[in-house]
Amino acid sequence: MTRKLAVIGAGLMGSGIAQVSAQAGWDVVLRDVTDEALTRGTDGIKASYDKFVSKGKLDAADAEAALGRITATTDLDAVGDADVVVEAVFEKLEVKHEIFRALDKLVGDGAVLASNTSAIPITKIAAVTERPERVVGTHFFSPVPMMRLCELVRGYKTSDETLATAREFAESVGKTCIVVNRDVAGFVTTRLISALVVEAAKLYESGVATAEDIDLACKLGFGHAMGPLATADLTGVDILLHATSNIYTESQDEKFAPPELMRRMVDAGDIGRKSGQGFYTH
Ligand SMILES: NC(=O)c1ccc[n+]([C@@H]2O[C@H](COP(=O)([O-])OP(=O)(O)OC[C@H]3O[C@@H](n4cnc5c(N)ncnc54)[C@H](O)[C@@H]3O)[C@@H](O)[C@H]2O)c1
Repeated sequence: MTRKLAVIGAGLMGSGIAQVSAQAGWDVVLRDVTDEALTRGTDGIKASYDKFVSKGKLDAADAEAALGRITATTDLDAVGDADVVVEAVFEKLEVKHEIFRALDKLVGDGAVLASNTSAIPITKIAAVTERPERVVGTHFFSPVPMMRLCELVRGYKTSDETLATAREFAESVGKTCIVVNRDVAGFVTTRLISALVVEAAKLYESGVATAEDIDLACKLGFGHAMGPLATADLTGVDILLHATSNIYTESQDEKFAPPELMRRMVDAGDIGRKSGQGFYTH
């Protein structure tokens, strides 16, 4: 039986999740607030399918069929009969709350309501619904068609059945899951990358080694694909400063205390690739 997925938000992540899900045979309703956002999202999906077809990694007929399984709409009511809903709107608690309150009224009782949040506690999102046991985190990574991980996050009240459905969904679209059993700030992945970037920035700040050598240590010594300071430049020093500050505020664990250097870089606008200057000049 074809199952129905609803994706709320047709931005970078939502369109990626819609893309891999339609390709895996899910009927997908992709919802955003404006036609422009939907067009941007579906154009991106089509361009990505075209690229896979031109590289011989996807059949043209399969790409066409997958596109045909995606319905783009601004009408939230269209998500009512979904089996799984993945929310991927802006990372703002009030926006997510508004969506989950509406979903709680609209979507059938058996459905799983998932959020793609990178950092907001699932428990806080679930708290505005009458069914916190049906709410779970499905944290996909960018670019969704390429990155194989999905971090499943249990909120305080998430049921085993909900977690199992979320796993089944993520695996059906080709992802491998890890489970975050407690809803801690930064989950597992953001805690790991924050700890590494913070220590790398401190080593650099105190003159222990150059940025290049710190990154080479991780690449050649540990087999990382990219060093932590290059990763910070790619992700955005501002984004990582925000993430580590949040984790520090919640955990009071000194290892997440943001280094002065990262704070000053953000004050000065040296936030990485986006600005042309970060730990490296781009
Ligand atoms: N960008 C990343 O690398 C990344 C990685 C993992 C997780 N995330 C998380 O995924 C979520 C989405 O991030 P993104 O990078 O795709 O953002 P984005 O800005 O690319 O897209 C967000 C989309 O949500 C839409 N939107 C806003 N309010 C809406 C509403 N009420 N209903 C429907 N759509 C609405 C916007 O129009 C926009 O198209 C965030 O929670 C983010 O933290 C992002």
